[in-house]
Amino acid sequence: MRKAVIIGAGMVPVSEHWKLSLRDMAVEALLNAMDDAGIDKVDSLYVGNMASGSFVEQENLGALIADWAGLGHIPAVKVEAACASGGAAVQEGAKAVMSGLEDVVAVVGVEKMTDAWPSDATRYLAYAADADWELFHGASFVALNALIMRLYMKEYNYTEEDLALFAVNAHANGAKNPYAMFRRPISVETVMKSPYVADPVKLFDASPVCDGSAAVIITTPEKAKELGVPKEKWVEVAGMGRAIDTINLANREDFLTLTAAKIAAERAYGMAGVTPKEVDFFEVHDAFTVMAALSLEALGVAKKGEGAKLAREGQIAIDGDYPIQTMGGLKSRGHPVGATGVYQTVEAVLQLRGEAPEGIQVPDAEIGLTQNIGGTGSNITVNVLRRV
Ligand code: COA
Repeated sequence: MRKAVIIGAGMVPVSEHWKLSLRDMAVEALLNAMDDAGIDKVDSLYVGNMASGSFVEQENLGALIADWAGLGHIPAVKVEAACASGGAAVQEGAKAVMSGLEDVVAVVGVEKMTDAWPSDATRYLAYAADADWELFHGASFVALNALIMRLYMKEYNYTEEDLALFAVNAHANGAKNPYAMFRRPISVETVMKSPYVADPVKLFDASPVCDGSAAVIITTPEKAKELGVPKEKWVEVAGMGRAIDTINLANREDFLTLTAAKIAAERAYGMAGVTPKEVDFFEVHDAFTVMAALSLEALGVAKKGEGAKLAREGQIAIDGDYPIQTMGGLKSRGHPVGATGVYQTVEAVLQLRGEAPEGIQVPDAEIGLTQNIGGTGSNITVNVLRRV
């Protein structure tokens, strides 16, 4: 199997983009990544997107984006794995390069959510749950995560204030990231004073509905050399794992274990030949604060029931033992669902190149991990990235 390295990364700020359409955002992020790599063509395009058909009545994104970016008659396809679409698209791109089928691949993650009415957006997101057994009965993602959060607090004796610490950490980092949607630090009090969306999930426990696009260029080390991309820019896709769990939350043996994340992480660590202790930072899927705690446990960073303890002890900050959400995570940078996994990848690339903004650069970062969750943990990707 060949090695895959990321040689270009680009994005647009996450926001409510009233003046940019889905195609505008995607083409801008893609061209930024191609400029960063110093190339003007690619062999193929993989698009991570969750629900463009519902949000903006546009499917066939492979053709749309390749066409509008002027990439010619290349193969281009959309990859869908709910909110994990971006992480899965990065994996499909890396796999194409590793297999020897394609030499230079572009991966774009994009989602335009804010054109929809809020009630419609909630319904479109819930299409990633079990339509017959969850959506039909009125369960939204906020509601399902509220059940998980309540159980987590009850089972392990945590308070809402404990979980609020994940949002505080995310905003502290996101405040320094020019591409983040919410660029202001917050306190536990801010979280506690925010309105309940679905008790105990409050506004500041939740990631926002937003728009965004991010892109990376993947190739082999040999081709990167041939293209003249300086080695300092290369970041290896060292390990990849993906797994599913029951789509219906009620069918899980244990509501408080992200089994798919555990399996995906074992695969990714195994492929990269690293242990959680060797990872310098973790971009985890904090769509809701409780998901950050469960993710740290599934990734082997914390013991079961102790994910929130790491936040209490300050270990998740940039200068802690296990920095997470270094650029704001889903809570502060934003969560344009199908694009999120690619944002996490771009942010990890910047960290590993030493190009993160001042105040949020993890010192001497060599290995980073991205974890992207679809559904309430039903489809999860984990990627381990390494500085070359
Ligand atoms: N965190 C902080 N502030 C937020 C926010 C968030 N998650 N979402 C919205 N806001 C702010 C807005 O900027 C706005 O501020 P302003 O009045 O100063 O302009 C205000 O709160 C109201 O925004 P609005 O868009 O009207 O909020 P809403 O009530 O329609 O939506 C949620 C809020 C939490 C319901 C919505 O963001 C949501 O559904 N989030 C979850 C998304 C989700 O499930 N993703 C998939 C996960 S798997």
